[in-house]
Parts: sequence; C-alpha cells; structure tokens
Amino acid sequence: MKIHITENYNSMSEKAASIIIKQIESKPKSVICFATGTTPLETYKLLINAYKNKKVDFSKVVSFNLDEYYPIQKKDKNSYFYYMHKNLFDHINISDENINILNGDCQDPELECLNHAKKIKKHPFDLVILGIGSNGHIGFNEPGSSFEKRIGIVNLTSNTIKDNARFFSSSSQVPKQALSLGIKTIMSGKKILVIASGKKKTNAVKDMVKGKINEKCPASILKKHKNCVLILDKDAASQLT
Ligand code: F6R
Repeated sequence: MKIHITENYNSMSEKAASIIIKQIESKPKSVICFATGTTPLETYKLLINAYKNKKVDFSKVVSFNLDEYYPIQKKDKNSYFYYMHKNLFDHINISDENINILNGDCQDPELECLNHAKKIKKHPFDLVILGIGSNGHIGFNEPGSSFEKRIGIVNLTSNTIKDNARFFSSSSQVPKQALSLGIKTIMSGKKILVIASGKKKTNAVKDMVKGKINEKCPASILKKHKNCVLILDKDAASQLT
C-alpha cells in the first residue's frame, strides 16, 4: 500500500482527482469503478472542472459503480444512480451506454448481479475508487463478508444504516439491503485508490493499515493488492503514527 497523507479534505480530493485524470490520460478507454458517499464529492467536482477546462476527456471511459441500495428506484434522490448523475455524469462527456450501475429496481436481484458480473468480465477494471465505512466496509461489504465473494445482495449492518441515515428523513427509510460488488471483484482492479477523510474514519483506517488481514475489517484485504494507493487527510491518518 502506498500512503499519502494530505493536510485536509481539499488536498486529499486534489490528489485523488489528479490520479484519476492521469489514469484517463494514459488510457482514454479506462474502465473505472466509482464510489458514492460524501468522501468523493469534492474529487468529482474537481473532475468536472478539469473536464470544463478541457484537461480530461471522458468520452471513451467506461464506468461501473461499487454498489446500489436495494430496493430503490433510479429516480429516488438517495439512489446511487441519481447520485452519480447529479454529482458527476451529468456534467462530463461520458456516454450513456458506457455507464454501468447495478439496478436497485430490478425484479430479480440474483439475475441482475449475474448479468452485471458478465459485463465486468468483459471490462476488467483499470481503476477502482473506494471510500471506507467507519466499520471498515468497502463497497457494501460489511464486516464478516467473505473475501471470495464476487457480487451479490447484502444485508446492511445497523452501523451502516445509522451512518447513512443522514441522507434520509430517518434511519427507518434507509434500505436494509444493497447490491454490491464483492471483495474479489474489487481486488481484481489493476489499481485501487482509497480516499478517507475525517476523525470518523480514524479507527477504520488504522485497522485497514495496521491490523491483521481479517474479514472483520473488509478493507484490511487491500494490503494484499499490488497497486493500492491510500489518500488520507491528517485526521483520518491520525492513528497511523
Ligand atoms: C459507496 C460505498 C461505501 C462508501 C463508504 C464511505 O459507494 O461503497 O463503501 O465509500 O460507506 O462513505 P462516506 O464517503 O459517505 O463516508
């Protein structure tokens, strides 16, 4: 793992955006797996600015996403489909047919995951962008998830439901399940970029970097990846030294 510690959230975001832009420069047809959540919001703003300033071209980029709530409609303001369009895709020149997001409104989640896995097989990930949950989850792979899982429907822990309730009117509104790429698929990415900011992530970051590789901390597996970069702000990294 390569670790960069930055002064604050903004410098973390600048570093992350520059890595994503470099990836697209070196391979315009890059397959990128995106994360949602609060952490990448500024990174995505910087990508939009870079696109507007003609510093990056997304026309050939193929996108996937880590996860989606289940069940949820695409038009729901809390869906990750909505998030990605609002915070990135609607403002850049990625083409619609290159956007792949698990459908949280599908009739048959098993089939949806199977079809999605086939698409991923055809488009191996060049770069996977990850945030980390305060319980060490990556994607929606909660503590205890098998490192061998490729994709599937998952039950969210009460911790994650509580963390994510900030976007909903109450925690009872948060879907209890999600469709998520499994850890095996995340690890298949050629490069992994993890971003974490703030004191809330301190323990998860410490477990990820310093703890044993253990399914209790899903992110701990990233230590085994040959090309994993962590961009942490000072607060998130505060227990590493
Ligand atoms: C989002 C995702 C999650 C988040 C994690 C951190 O697609 O897969 O693992 O990355 O929950 O979320 P934030 O950034 O909101 O703290």
